[in-house]
Amino acid sequence: MSIRSEIIGHGHYAPKKVLTNDDLAKIVDTNDEWITTRTGIKARAVVEDELNSDIAAKAAEMAMKTAGVSPKEIDLIILATVTPDNTTPATAIKLGAMLGVNPGVPAFDMSAACSGFVYALTMADNMIRLGQVKTALVIGSETLSKITDWTDRNTCVLFGDGAGAVVLRATEGKGTAEDTGVLSTVLFSDGTHYDNLRTTGGVSTTQNAGFVTMDGKEVFKFAVTSMPQAAEEAMKLANITIDDVDWIIPHQANIRIIEGVAKKLELPEEKAIVNIANHGNTSAATIPMTLSEKIEDGTLKKGDLIVLTAMGAGFTWGGAVIRL
Ligand code: ACO
Repeated sequence: MSIRSEIIGHGHYAPKKVLTNDDLAKIVDTNDEWITTRTGIKARAVVEDELNSDIAAKAAEMAMKTAGVSPKEIDLIILATVTPDNTTPATAIKLGAMLGVNPGVPAFDMSAACSGFVYALTMADNMIRLGQVKTALVIGSETLSKITDWTDRNTCVLFGDGAGAVVLRATEGKGTAEDTGVLSTVLFSDGTHYDNLRTTGGVSTTQNAGFVTMDGKEVFKFAVTSMPQAAEEAMKLANITIDDVDWIIPHQANIRIIEGVAKKLELPEEKAIVNIANHGNTSAATIPMTLSEKIEDGTLKKGDLIVLTAMGAGFTWGGAVIRL
């Protein structure tokens, strides 16, 4: 017998304001055809007067509602983000107060860029399996529009704002791949790629947040090898093979990266969930937003075996196997 973290609730939220590719073509020298063929993105949501904590709260409230748990039952909050409301305190702590979570509950932000949700899920799962907490709120939420240089066509077409969340609850499993919940997680980083994808500023360097800058080709190359590697290691740990998998939810960076990951894993393309067209890359939010939206529309069903895989700035990368 072993303790598992069952996913008992899911939530997502995207801001109301939408920028289409045609809207961006009025700001920078780009066009819908270039963006669509290279990224699969058609539109992205951007915040107007909302903060990251506001959109995170919307996703978290939906996750608690679908889980049927009250904020008073939450005993851990982890918010994966690179766009916190303030440099300190952690936005997760503010979120706890906004949601009405009991004072005293541990809460922290997880900074692992686009791998942030997989990192946060791993931390929450480990704390649950150690018996330290029973019911955890894990959120990925980003206001990337605030660190986007809207004059740089190399980057501004890629990103969007949004939030996704899950509620995890400790449950008893057999310790086999038949269990529901988080079956395995793996995490990696390699700081020799620090400069390939980063912001131009930060507290200790420029005293401002800066804007995202990247070497797109290096990011692409690393993503199509690291994401399959993380997926394979997570599957091995969970004692399953690709043939057992119902779906893979890759980080939604770009359609060509997703196609490359599916090909490397020898997974039929229709099993790789693509949810990028109307959201763009929302960094730590892509996986929980996709998970939640695809549960809501009936694509993902109870009992489905799903592989999560992500890669982001750092570079960081990681994977997980979950059964709904
Ligand atoms: N519109 C039109 N032209 C553009 C645009 C744009 N928005 N952006 C760049 N270009 C131009 C460049 O200036 C360049 O022009 P030049 O040849 O005259 O110098 C040309 O397009 C480059 O074209 P390609 O070589 O065809 O570009 P590529 O195929 O490398 O695609 C892309 C670029 C989409 C950024 C690709 O490298 C990529 O997907 N990289 C991954 C980046 C990514 O997803 N980052 C997100 C964060 S990381 C993560 O989430 C994992």
